[in-house]
Amino acid sequence: MGSFGMLARRAVLTETPVMVQMQQLIGGVKDCLSLAQGVVHWQPPKKALDKVKELVWEPSVSRYGADEGLPELREALLKKLSNENNLQKSSVMVTAGANQAFVNTVLTLCDAGDSVVMFAPYYFNAYMSFQMTGVTNILVGPGDPKTLHPDADWLERILRETKPTPKLVTVVNPGNPSGTYIPEPLLKKISDLCTEAGCWLVVDNTYEYFMYDGRKHTCIEGNHIVNLFSFSKAYGMMGWRVGYIAYPSEVEGLASQLLKVQDNIPICASIISQRLALHSLEVGPEWVLDQVKDLVKSRELVKEALSPLGEDAVKGGEGAIYLWAKLPDKFGDDFEVVRWLAQKHKIALIPGSACGCPGHVRIAFGGLVEDDCRRASERLRRGLEELLKDGMV
Ligand SMILES: Cc1ncc(COP(=O)(O)O)c(C=O)c1O
Repeated sequence: MGSFGMLARRAVLTETPVMVQMQQLIGGVKDCLSLAQGVVHWQPPKKALDKVKELVWEPSVSRYGADEGLPELREALLKKLSNENNLQKSSVMVTAGANQAFVNTVLTLCDAGDSVVMFAPYYFNAYMSFQMTGVTNILVGPGDPKTLHPDADWLERILRETKPTPKLVTVVNPGNPSGTYIPEPLLKKISDLCTEAGCWLVVDNTYEYFMYDGRKHTCIEGNHIVNLFSFSKAYGMMGWRVGYIAYPSEVEGLASQLLKVQDNIPICASIISQRLALHSLEVGPEWVLDQVKDLVKSRELVKEALSPLGEDAVKGGEGAIYLWAKLPDKFGDDFEVVRWLAQKHKIALIPGSACGCPGHVRIAFGGLVEDDCRRASERLRRGLEELLKDGMV
């Protein structure tokens, strides 16, 4: 024992979680402000929290629940999917967050050795989920250099030329780490390419309510499409761990295979968390939109702070809680820049290498209230100005 060789290659060869690395970095710097973690600064709706406060003594909260989720929550979610997302032919499974929803989906749809497709810059946890389930042939497609939209021409070619055909294509909309929104016609095009090739499309809609400048989020439905959702950011429920999978009802056997995976990971999402999710849904999306609208100010503060990098260097931010920036060419080691910014200027970002794009950084603007975001932005601007003028001294 004690040998690295005794550990599963599946785990050993999976990337190290960048957020854990960042938390360690931030923890080592006194008073560091974080524009690193993808979180929001609000708590769940008070009305919903007050209701679950009473529930701890209720015996059902301490028992297992149905694997696929509390019936009343699933019913409410089906209504929401129909009314808000125009998903009429979907079934729903409640999970311990969207990350677990993604792992469930990969375990249900992919075999070890399959190839899959994602686009750079990609969401690091999705990449890791493939790696640790043995799906190591991960084909990473380019984004449009200007808009960062997934390159549909590349996808068409790769789906045609790769044999066996990739099993699954995945996108995040709007995106993590870029905050780029995939317009409906492009999403439909990607979906059509998947239909023609006979592969799955998995769309992560974690940031469905986080849309700016009048844009509107849309979902699409099909027997080859799985849509994932999360309560974490919308309702400030990160620590409660609730997400859900909307999957096509008509696909025979899909529900029972998903159930096998679910039964062996969480069995069911935490019951009290599901109850909070239900009460939060009752408060409704208007509450969420009310929280989200104030993030526009934070986005502008951060954008302004990034301006020393030049206008063309900063992209995304049409939705979600992220901006994406290219560092000047001579600072290709983004981990080094992130470390320097944290240690010298007490401001934390995420290095783009974790998302398949060295020489870039992700900036998250949802975790700080406006005043703190202003302070963080001032530090970031100062840091970038110094970086450009004197380098990492
Ligand atoms: C695109 C995306 N999917 C999933 C997650 C994880 O969400 P959850 O807390 O619901 O697992 C995140 C969190 O940052 C995310 O950005």
